Amino acid sequence: MAELDELRAYVEYFRDLGVYDFYRRGDGSPSEAVAAFLERAFPAPTWQPSSNLGAPPRVGASPLAGSEPSVSVLPSLAGSASPAFAGQPPWPNPLEVAVPKPVPFNDLAPLPLVRVPPADRAAALEQLRREIGDCTRCPLAYAGRHTIVFGQGDPAARLMFVGEGPGADEDASGLPFVGKAGQLLNNMIAAMGLRREDVYIANIVKCRPPANRVPEPVEANTCSQFLLQQMDIVQPEIVVALGATAATYLLGVKQSLATLRSRFHICRGSRLLVTFHPAFLLRDPRQKGEAWKDLQLVMAELGLKPPAKL
Ligand code: URA
Repeated sequence: MAELDELRAYVEYFRDLGVYDFYRRGDGSPSEAVAAFLERAFPAPTWQPSSNLGAPPRVGASPLAGSEPSVSVLPSLAGSASPAFAGQPPWPNPLEVAVPKPVPFNDLAPLPLVRVPPADRAAALEQLRREIGDCTRCPLAYAGRHTIVFGQGDPAARLMFVGEGPGADEDASGLPFVGKAGQLLNNMIAAMGLRREDVYIANIVKCRPPANRVPEPVEANTCSQFLLQQMDIVQPEIVVALGATAATYLLGVKQSLATLRSRFHICRGSRLLVTFHPAFLLRDPRQKGEAWKDLQLVMAELGLKPPAKL
């Protein structure tokens, strides 16, 4: 158990650096060495075939294997005599499913010809929130979510932060970045000479992924339309992408943070800077100095001075 916890901690660490596909080869399949390791670390569940399905098949080396249902909870499939399922589980091995490429937010829709004036932005955000409603557009709606975390802050903010997705505290409160990572984000904002209410804060997905896992592409892609509209309404001068997931989906590139940091990109007409996710900085505080360098680039662009005394 301790070994698995350690493994998960490593996976999360690399994930925050944008290296969360290290167990896949270029063609999307797991490398043999890693597949063998995963098979030991995450043993395949017991397969309970119905009598007409033949010999028990191998489910495959999937880190999700432990959560896959056995045939006994899928009565309609268990009873099926379809030769298509003979010897194979009736769902794909997650490691063999092609992962859709992220599309840059710039390519998802053209910038609106008519921009929302500052005085109308609060109402436009409220209207968008109403449109989202009690959303069931993606699987996260059925994965234990309690509250949709829409976003928070000044509807006409000059600076917007985008994180990955709500955690347990955010799911309970309905507000972004209110847990431990949120406290660090508050400190980062204060160090820039701003108050939390001066900025706008949102996430790639608005519902908590179970066990704080990385949002699946289908979840992030489904939710993108709403973050895109929030960005088009708020029209911040600068967007700060917190961590690899935000950078991946906003910019539509899967690259390491090291490649993406330290320079401005363009996203929805705003300049966008990539920095470390506060949760990563809590895990590896040595990187706080690097994050501060990123924030100083933002401060220079916005003409901000750090407060005399923090
Ligand atoms: N982590 C995020 O990415 N977003 C939140 O809102 C909280 C934690």
